[in-house]
Order: sequence, then C-alpha cells, then structure tokens
Amino acid sequence: MAENEIVIYGNPVLREVSQPVEEFDRGLKDLVSALTDTLKKARGLGLSAVQIGVLKRVFIVDLSVVDINESLRVFINPEILETGGDAEFEEGCLSFPGIYQKIHRPDRVKVRAYDLDGQVFELEAGGLIARAIQHEYDHLEGKLFIDHFSPVARSLVKGKLKKLKAAS
Ligand code: NI
Repeated sequence: MAENEIVIYGNPVLREVSQPVEEFDRGLKDLVSALTDTLKKARGLGLSAVQIGVLKRVFIVDLSVVDINESLRVFINPEILETGGDAEFEEGCLSFPGIYQKIHRPDRVKVRAYDLDGQVFELEAGGLIARAIQHEYDHLEGKLFIDHFSPVARSLVKGKLKKLKAAS
C-alpha cells in the first residue's frame, strides 16, 4: 500500500496550479495508485494529485462508497467542456477535515480527459458525480471549495479554518 499524507489547508501548495501530464508512464501509474490507496483509506469520494503534494493535472473520483453501480474513475489532463443548471449541495474536502457547507455549482458537466492508457474520453454527467468532478477540477487550478462559500458560510467556518491553518 502506498498511502500518502493528505495535504491540509494552510499548506500553500493547495493554491498552486497543477501542470499537464506529458508521459503516460510508470510514474503516472504509481501516482494514480498512491491516490487510490490514499482515497480509500480516507473514505473520501475524490482526490486530486495536489492533495498529496504532486502538482500534476490528475484526479480520481470514486462514488462506489455511496453508489454500488459506480467504480473508480481516473481523470488525466481534464477539460471541462460544458456545464449547465444549478444545484446546492453540502460538500466537504479531505484537505479541510471537519468542514462541510452547502454550496452552489452547476449540476451538469461535460468533461474530456485521458485515462491511464492515454486514451481520450468524454463524459457527460449530472448529480453527485458532476459535483465531484468540478470540485476536483478546481483543485488543479489552485481553487478550493471555500472559494464558493457564501459570506455567511465563510463566517461560520472562520474559526475552524484558523485552527487548520495554525496546525499546518
Ligand atoms: Ni477537495
């Protein structure tokens, strides 16, 4: 098992923009396997490479915890092609332990990405998977879910954020 430590809010790497993957090699397979092991251990729904300190445009989403028909999906060099609709839903993030808030996002997404073999694919999805994809995509841009909080939600978590930052 190659579990990695999850980077917690306060670590400036979370604000960095991740770089495209250029080689679909052994290193990439190892990265995805480290992400997979780390996500499973943390029992989360999604994890991006930057959250284990690797600034590569890679994330995984695994909704099998909540939906038996789902399995782990790998997104390499993803592009969001379209979004639509709007939904409000409670979100958390493994880099923000103990913080959950309702935020608005488009509820449909069309994404293009590469899989581990370097094959391009497109996916159109709605609901939880669309939300997870957008959340993880934000990480690749150095954007965090707290950036979507309303002013009220932000003031509610101010103390918790300070504590996370102080501990990091
Ligand atoms: Ni996150």
